[in-house]
Amino acid sequence: MLDVQAAAANPPVIRREDYRKPDWLMPDVFLDFALDPARALVTGRLDVTRNGAHNRPLRLHGDGLVPLKVLIDGEAQADAWRMDGPDLVIDLPGDAHVVETQVAISPEANSQLMGLYASGGNLCSQCEPEGFRRMVFFLDRPDVLSRYRVRMDADKARFPVLLSNGDLTGSGDLEHGRHWAEWTDPFPKPSYLFALVAANLSANVDHFTTKSGREVKLAIWVVESDLPKTGHAMAALKASMAWDEKVYGLEYDLGEYNIVAVHDFNFGAMENKSLNIFNSRYILADPDTATDIDYDGVSGVVAHEYFHNWSGNRVTCRDWFQLSLKEGFTVFRDQCFTADQGSAAVKRIEDVRLLRAAQFQEDAGPLAHPIRPESYMEVSNFYTATVYNKGAEVVRMLHTMLGPQKFRAGSDLYFARHDGTAATCEDFVVAMEDASGVDLSQFRLWYSQAGTPRVRATLSHEPAGGRALLTLEQTVPPTPGQPEKKPMPLPLRIALFGERSQRKFEEERLVVLDGERCEILFEGIAERPVLSINRGFSAPVVIDSDRSAADLAFLSAHDDDPFARYEAMQQLMVDTLTGAVATGQADHGPVIDAVRNTLTDPKLDASFIGETMLLPSEAFIGDQMAVVDPVAIHKAREALRRDLGQALEGEWRDAYERTRANRFELSPQAKGARRLRSIALGFIMASGASDGPEIALRQFHDADNMTDRQGAFGALANSMAPERDAAIAAFYERFRDNGLVLDKWFSTQAFSIRPDTLDRVEELSQHPDFTLANPNRLRSLVGAMSGNQLIFHDASGRGYRFLADMLLKVDGLNPQTAAKLVPPLGRWRRFDEGRAGLMKAQLQRLLDTPGLSKDMFEQVSKSLG
Ligand code: PHE
Ligand code: ZN
Repeated sequence: MLDVQAAAANPPVIRREDYRKPDWLMPDVFLDFALDPARALVTGRLDVTRNGAHNRPLRLHGDGLVPLKVLIDGEAQADAWRMDGPDLVIDLPGDAHVVETQVAISPEANSQLMGLYASGGNLCSQCEPEGFRRMVFFLDRPDVLSRYRVRMDADKARFPVLLSNGDLTGSGDLEHGRHWAEWTDPFPKPSYLFALVAANLSANVDHFTTKSGREVKLAIWVVESDLPKTGHAMAALKASMAWDEKVYGLEYDLGEYNIVAVHDFNFGAMENKSLNIFNSRYILADPDTATDIDYDGVSGVVAHEYFHNWSGNRVTCRDWFQLSLKEGFTVFRDQCFTADQGSAAVKRIEDVRLLRAAQFQEDAGPLAHPIRPESYMEVSNFYTATVYNKGAEVVRMLHTMLGPQKFRAGSDLYFARHDGTAATCEDFVVAMEDASGVDLSQFRLWYSQAGTPRVRATLSHEPAGGRALLTLEQTVPPTPGQPEKKPMPLPLRIALFGERSQRKFEEERLVVLDGERCEILFEGIAERPVLSINRGFSAPVVIDSDRSAADLAFLSAHDDDPFARYEAMQQLMVDTLTGAVATGQADHGPVIDAVRNTLTDPKLDASFIGETMLLPSEAFIGDQMAVVDPVAIHKAREALRRDLGQALEGEWRDAYERTRANRFELSPQAKGARRLRSIALGFIMASGASDGPEIALRQFHDADNMTDRQGAFGALANSMAPERDAAIAAFYERFRDNGLVLDKWFSTQAFSIRPDTLDRVEELSQHPDFTLANPNRLRSLVGAMSGNQLIFHDASGRGYRFLADMLLKVDGLNPQTAAKLVPPLGRWRRFDEGRAGLMKAQLQRLLDTPGLSKDMFEQVSKSLG
């Protein structure tokens, strides 16, 4: 007993360098699930074979399991096995045996949502990364691949639908109103890709014919009344299947593809072989309940999980340190898919905004880690923006440096070489290297070094000789455990523009800065050049340059790379705001002029204009400062919003009118128009115009879609006008029965900048519709509040205390989801002494709590540093 407690308080550290291949393999497994929400009996019959010459026992992973039965080659041999902590250890004399075990588990008592659990009355599994061992004793590691045959039986009325991976190979009725089904998956897979569903759901069924003529039945399973909301997900699935054939030459490999939507889910979705399980927020969409952002989330996640069928399933990961092998590559693939479906420029802008918001912060804090981590206590804590989004940037850099053809050759070679196996990040790089002939030795640093590189760019011009000299210097900041860094290869797309002629000198260059410093000479530069650098965000770095406000305004109007245009505007806004915070003085003139130019440029589409008009977030402004001052940042940003609103009031009202739609459409033009319209509304409100709240309330009530309604609701939620209360009440009344929309109701209020937001958040945590058991709901209140810089960092420390209170409650229920909410507290080093002390005090309070999960222990102890 004591030992168990000590182990929980100080969990062992797992290291990448300690990887050892499995002692035993398990080519074939048979699983039997006698299902019942209160007590399910799970039997596993495993064909195990000794892997190499050794005499070590078979260690089957378990988590909270008690063996009801252990049979070795059909016999109970009580002295051959023992429990060792959570695991079952069996001495086996020969090289091949059949081991059968049985356990009982309670899906309805499973609040962690890992293993087999109940959601909305249905039963479903979640195994990645280590949930399988909560269902039956198993070799639960990704480098053990097995062929699965799965039998299940359940009450037929309650669970008419029984699904698992692969093909249905049998089914029938049983006594006492029960029925059974058997599924066989011909593709060997690791346990984390296993899935099982027993449910009362209906399917939207469709078909796809692969390029070689395979007929695939596609089914999206939801509660019957949600069927009308599955069309967008189905269209996205078919588009993804076609895209992967066209762009990567990869085809689907089974006769069925099932997607099941559940309301209680820790992440976005899960790529289980041929049986994806989704958080319902990434499946369900209709105009009345989903915003355009939600629609994009659905197609992006559907594509992501589909693409995993090759990058993740056919080729899987050797161990969890290789997670970015499947996640970085698959995020890159889904980003490219979305870019091809709509506006590539807007997609890039959104992806970079997310990277900066989530990953740059992670890289700059106590939880920084390389995309291939070296160690962990709990692997669930490493499903991070670094592994996913920076991982995707690393793959994108390979694409940029090799070019599309060689990249594709590398990808082909990777899939051909490693199909059906568990691979490493190194295997991926070697395939890229072998196919392209490009030496990637130094590039491998992207896998081992954490931290966001910074590049200082200095441009000098010598008019007489018509020459310009660009000096680039890189530094990679120290991160925990990595005080010294080597220079990384940074692919930077660079162009120079003539200030007077407004034209680009020569073609864009791709410069790979691979040392600490380099100089690049440009000739034939007769007039003063303006530097456009890291175009398209070709490298995930921070650029420091001394470009003036005038240069940035110039680029925001004339750069021919849309991302660079956006970036120039952002930089201009950031410089203005950080200047205002530092000096208390602000010159908003250049921003106002630049915004006016973009807003009224007839050549630009509305979605791009909308992206460009968005002010940098308060958090991002804070990231630029030595010590974050949330109140001063908020004031400076609001002052800029107000001035922009007032100075351009006519333009905003014009934009608001010209984006008015007659009827709802999902075209990129219509989405862009809605985006710009709500941004314009925000500025009209910020201007203080007396009719602002009224315009917003009218939009709120008249909207025929959630994007417009939510846009108005968000604007009103920030306002002190009485219209705000009316909107909150009306929204609730209209959507109180729709969980996903209710999440918006909670989060919009928690994101509010009103001074009474913390009171409101505390009140909402007592609301009958609030629950800690549903991760979406939890994040919609607690996650939103702690992402609201002004409110969370209230100098009283109330925001910190509220978060810690919630974390303590959730940790006992769902440690994985609780631990994901810790990082905002870990940013204490970035704040003044008062706030830092209050933040640390809450972390310490968490750490001092007996019985903390290892998920929380790792996040909290590392955050304290
Ligand atoms: N592997 C999933 C994805 O990226 C994410 C996930 C991780 C889901 C762990 C559930 C649990 O698509
Ligand atoms: Zn993924």
